[in-house]
Amino acid sequence: VTLRIARLSADEARAHREALAEVLADCVNGGASVSFMWPFNVADAARWWDGVIADVARERTVLLAGFVDGRLLGTVQLGMDMPPNQPHRGDVKKMLVHRDGRRRGLARALMLTLEDEAKARGRTLLVLDTASAEAEALYRSLGYRETGVIPNYALYPDGRFCDTIVFWKALA
Ligand SMILES: CC(C)(COP(=O)(O)OP(=O)(O)OC[C@H]1O[C@@H](n2cnc3c(N)ncnc32)[C@H](O)[C@@H]1OP(=O)(O)O)[C@@H](O)C(=O)NCCC(=O)NCCS
Repeated sequence: VTLRIARLSADEARAHREALAEVLADCVNGGASVSFMWPFNVADAARWWDGVIADVARERTVLLAGFVDGRLLGTVQLGMDMPPNQPHRGDVKKMLVHRDGRRRGLARALMLTLEDEAKARGRTLLVLDTASAEAEALYRSLGYRETGVIPNYALYPDGRFCDTIVFWKALA
């Protein structure tokens, strides 16, 4: 398989809106705790992406897409919208890989590119949180340090509570 990571401009994101929506809907329908509750469909997901695309246009968000053999199956965001006293910080948001694309190294490749994009913008401290055991293993393997667990932080899409772990990494 061939993996490719690309940073998407707002126009490019608009062109990939349907595929991005399918990735998000697949993750939510697979049970991931990523903001949304069931029922959740591709149209719901596409509407949410419109807000992200607006943030990309305003340079508040850096949006990456991951392609497996040319098909967009993964995405992650670097949140850049920080207060004046945190100009060196970035938030890692919405790491999502479609079930069709998992366990091929796409999430790892997305994170490595995201770190490069962060460094290129002078962002030397990344913060993220996750409720996913798979993502937790990914972040630990990339050197993210655990701050701690917040019990019952959010809900799974079926309504059960889930814990979240806050992680951080200082980029060299
Ligand atoms: C978490 C997620 C992004 C991983 O994507 P992926 O492309 O399959 O991950 P990769 O193939 O790059 O795997 C990287 C590492 O993550 C960990 N990992 C990924 N899937 C795993 C699994 N099912 N079980 C255990 N570890 C896993 C491993 O450490 C893996 O490294 P390895 O393959 O060398 O063992 C994907 O499962 C996903 O989108 N889940 C649903 C959405 C979600 O919960 N996102 C997290 C929001 S913070």
